Amino acid sequence: MSEKGSNLRHIRIFDTTLRDGEQSPGASMNVDEKVKLAKQLARLGVDVIEAGFAISSQGDFDAIRRVGAEVEGPIIASLARAKEPDIKRAWEALRDIPKKRIHTFHSTSDIHLKYQFRVDRKEALRRSVEMVKLAKSLVDDVEFSPMDATRTEPAYLAEVVEAVIEAGAGTVNIPDTVGYTIPAEFEKLIKYLVDNVPNIKRTVISVHCHNDLGLAVANSLAAVLAGAGQIECTINGIGERAGNCSLEEVVMALRTRKDLFGADTNIRTEEITRTSRLVTKITGISVQPNKAIVGANAFAHESGIHQDGLLKEKSTYEIIRPESIGLHSTKLVLGKHSGRHAFKSRLADLGFELAEGELEQAFENFKRLADQKKDIYEEDLEMLVSEGLSKAPEIYGLAGLSISSGMGQKPSATVRLSMENKEVEETATGDGPVDAAYRAIAHITGTKSSLNRYEVKGITGGTDALGEVTVILEEDGRVVRGHGADTDIITASAKAYVNALNKMAAARPRTGGNPI
Ligand code: KIV
Ligand code: ZN
Repeated sequence: MSEKGSNLRHIRIFDTTLRDGEQSPGASMNVDEKVKLAKQLARLGVDVIEAGFAISSQGDFDAIRRVGAEVEGPIIASLARAKEPDIKRAWEALRDIPKKRIHTFHSTSDIHLKYQFRVDRKEALRRSVEMVKLAKSLVDDVEFSPMDATRTEPAYLAEVVEAVIEAGAGTVNIPDTVGYTIPAEFEKLIKYLVDNVPNIKRTVISVHCHNDLGLAVANSLAAVLAGAGQIECTINGIGERAGNCSLEEVVMALRTRKDLFGADTNIRTEEITRTSRLVTKITGISVQPNKAIVGANAFAHESGIHQDGLLKEKSTYEIIRPESIGLHSTKLVLGKHSGRHAFKSRLADLGFELAEGELEQAFENFKRLADQKKDIYEEDLEMLVSEGLSKAPEIYGLAGLSISSGMGQKPSATVRLSMENKEVEETATGDGPVDAAYRAIAHITGTKSSLNRYEVKGITGGTDALGEVTVILEEDGRVVRGHGADTDIITASAKAYVNALNKMAAARPRTGGNPI
């Protein structure tokens, strides 16, 4: 956290994982998942959570309301185009939330105004000012974004920024919507606004960078050097196309080089690893192994020279301590004989607060796992708890599975599913045991969905490790993710498929769609 009493400038972290992050292909989250993630973002210490785009769908509207009702600490924001119905819908979603912000935007680049909006600069300015005034009449805290700012003529951008500040925008966000700028140019643009907008001191300058050229973090940091006081970012850098500025990278750059930036954030960096894993779990989007800060190899030193230096003195090759981002060497935490009390207190140490019913369920799963696996690690506990996240109303339950496979033998699977108070059994053969089990399940359920992705990974090392399977199914344009974990990967695979089929059955069509 920024040191109290220090003269480091405080940089606000505006997290948009739930809004811009959700615009990653295949990353849509349900309301329960958004609330769970928002609670973790609050634990991480972000200043603002953009919980959705209220007018875009009933799901986004509900998510904003529930995040506001259940998450304490950060300001909760809703996005709204510079249009009256959008602002009013954002207000309806936010009205009962104590710390709320309307974030409204209008494009300002000639290319957008001419081809997309078909209005001139004067009209774009008029609409922006009018909608900031409308938002300000409803809430105290208003943010305005001139979309595609980095391709907007700087003098016109300065005119818009000055006018929206005058209209009441307490934060003005400068988006690099298409990820076009580079650090030196962006730093110059922010400096130009600082020097040429007479009322700039009455607002916080924010930046929102996309990663199309791989420069979102570098551009955001350059903007801080020029005076920006808020960074918009997402966990793991997820987002539209190549994604957004990655929260963990930008925060750790500021923390590690606060000598250079003279600035820091309120982020509790020890929560970074857990937050990153939760986002992967919920969205099904894995992090590349060599990704800075949260990639599996980010702290792995292979070269002999580096290992030699590290053994002598860590600072020779390590600029960030793994523990500072909450990355600990795999720790044995519980075993078969651990009781409910130890289980509960270990979960509390890990930062999980479960309701009584959830705790019961997690403890039951733990006992079942402890029968299969001698040592239970932190990662296993995280998995047990987050399994509850993937729960959908159970239409199908996996009641039995047996496999026959071996070298030179056609794999076959017999699957028993419970459905509507009866059990149905089916045997099928396939190219492998998973394929056979999936064919049997598809036959029993009569699903028409296609399997878009199947991914399996080990949660910890060792041959007794839990295997975690993620699948993505698609049917009539609807996409759902399923998860399953078990020490037997065929069982984990069947659980993941059944979980996804339950979600597919429960999924209601989203109304409206995303208007941007
Ligand atoms: O990238 C962008 O310009 C946005 C705005 C809505 C801020 O996401
Ligand atoms: Zn964006």
